[in-house]
Amino acid sequence: MRTLPDNQVLIFGSQSAMKDFVVSRWLEISNQSINKYGVFRVALSGGKTPAPLYERLAEEKGLNWEKIFIFQVDERFVPEDSPDNNFRMIRRTLTDRVAIPNENLFPIPVNAPDPLLAAERYETLIRRQMGLSEGQFPRFDLVLLGMGKDGHTASLFPGDDLLFEKCRIAAPAFPESGHSRVTLTFPAINRARRIFFFVIGKEKAPAFKRTVTGDPAVPAALVKPIRGELVFIADPDAGSDL
Ligand code: 6PG
Repeated sequence: MRTLPDNQVLIFGSQSAMKDFVVSRWLEISNQSINKYGVFRVALSGGKTPAPLYERLAEEKGLNWEKIFIFQVDERFVPEDSPDNNFRMIRRTLTDRVAIPNENLFPIPVNAPDPLLAAERYETLIRRQMGLSEGQFPRFDLVLLGMGKDGHTASLFPGDDLLFEKCRIAAPAFPESGHSRVTLTFPAINRARRIFFFVIGKEKAPAFKRTVTGDPAVPAALVKPIRGELVFIADPDAGSDL
């Protein structure tokens, strides 16, 4: 198998081992970031896969939640209390269970009139929080990504012009099926200090293989940190085509 240089592809024996790995890395890098920058800024994905990971993280003692700032990778443009709302899942599995101040939470504002305005407001929120001027991109300490079986990641879908976005930090996405969404763009994701993909399930094996071997037709393969670490964390089912 040919893998891209500098990437780590880790296939774990169990989902529990995957969670333990992420939690111990989170502990280590959040402490490093807090020592160095005073805060740890992380962008979290939604979907089904990471929910048990967030629950496990909520049980971890010794995390300095006062200094951890939670952003979103993407969101479905549905009300905050909709079962499809990603931040609702993040609240229920993680942030409602730990002592994190409300001001440390940066959900995508789905109460905006439309997805474009929601994306613009989210971008403004990020710029303000990180003190970015026009043209600057955020540098998240960690971005946690998932992958769809079609190889989408965040809400960056195959064939979408948004894959080529160069200027915006956040943008609206209109997939062929399902809800409209708001997503971080590749230039924002790829400037992160660390990017972890968390991938589980046999149905993702083909997309996972195409991603780690760098097939440019697969959006997830366009995740290429500019100056950062990329780690694929998968279970044996997702890794079964490698
Ligand atoms: C979302 C995402 C998305 C997700 C993949 C995988 O809102 O759906 O953030 O990019 O990571 O679609 O989703 P599952 O974990 O549900 O398979």
